[in-house]
Amino acid sequence: MKVDIRYFSGTGNTAWLADQLKKALEKRSIAVSLGAIGLDADPQIGPETLTLMICFPVYGLDAPPFVQEWAGRLPQGEGRSVVLVRSPGDPFFDGGTTRTMRRILAERGWRVTVERMIVMPPNVFIRVSDDLAAFLLAAAHRRIATLADDILGGKELLEDTGSFVHYCSRACNLLLAHHGFRFGRDLRANKTCTRCGLCVRECPSGTITMTPDGIRFGDRCQVCIRCLSRCPVKAIHSRFYSWFSVENYDLSALDKVDFSTLKLRSWFERRYRNYLERS
Ligand SMILES: Cc1cc2nc3c(=O)[nH]c(=O)nc-3n(C[C@H](O)[C@H](O)[C@H](O)COP(=O)(O)O)c2cc1C
Repeated sequence: MKVDIRYFSGTGNTAWLADQLKKALEKRSIAVSLGAIGLDADPQIGPETLTLMICFPVYGLDAPPFVQEWAGRLPQGEGRSVVLVRSPGDPFFDGGTTRTMRRILAERGWRVTVERMIVMPPNVFIRVSDDLAAFLLAAAHRRIATLADDILGGKELLEDTGSFVHYCSRACNLLLAHHGFRFGRDLRANKTCTRCGLCVRECPSGTITMTPDGIRFGDRCQVCIRCLSRCPVKAIHSRFYSWFSVENYDLSALDKVDFSTLKLRSWFERRYRNYLERS
């Protein structure tokens, strides 16, 4: 069996997940290749790939538009199987709908056989405490192990969140499309910017450009907040949406922390309890 893992990650959570999934599958003697989802007009998935695993963060209760567009450009699957792994920042609505991705993939001849939600620390609105983030990583390790076993065992497990969530996600995505445009237009690089060009190279929408007057943020932003999160001098900021994104987590450090007890500090954090208990 050969599994091809493709992931999109704005702030690093899904990249971490994809890497851990690769290790878990290799431990079970499954051949794995790992690659990021890019702007490639013609995604290369060879005939030797029997299972494609697509890992993505959840945006507005669905896969980011960028990932949906990439899936729509896949070569014909000819009935091969796809595993969908979504990494929401919150167990709310069980990580949203997978129906959009299922439909796009079915149109390309791919069959979704396994879906899994693995909650990661949220990168927007509210930054959770380090101990909750560490507990989420520990739960992610357990979910990754189960997922790897399920793939090895050839199980088929879909997680349908139902029509209500699907239509809520449609509404959320209309809002996101509208605010994405404004968010992108509102970004600025301040005086500390060294013009290293990292944001230009890393922007998945290719909407950031270097001009003689400085960095210019275009209007094709998909709000992945990668530019804010990766800027080495933290020069990028939003004037009106500064409340939206939260400070990065140090996942490699948190992954080594062994918290014995978890104190959920607010009603927001208490919503994770049920997810952690069933992980
Ligand atoms: C624009 C945007 C929309 C998001 N919408 C949701 C959402 O609807 N539900 C959710 O649980 N998390 C949401 N999140 C949080 C991310 O899905 C989550 O933190 C994810 O693990 C980030 O992965 P990444 O670091 O690989 O980008 C959103 C994040 C962004 C940037």
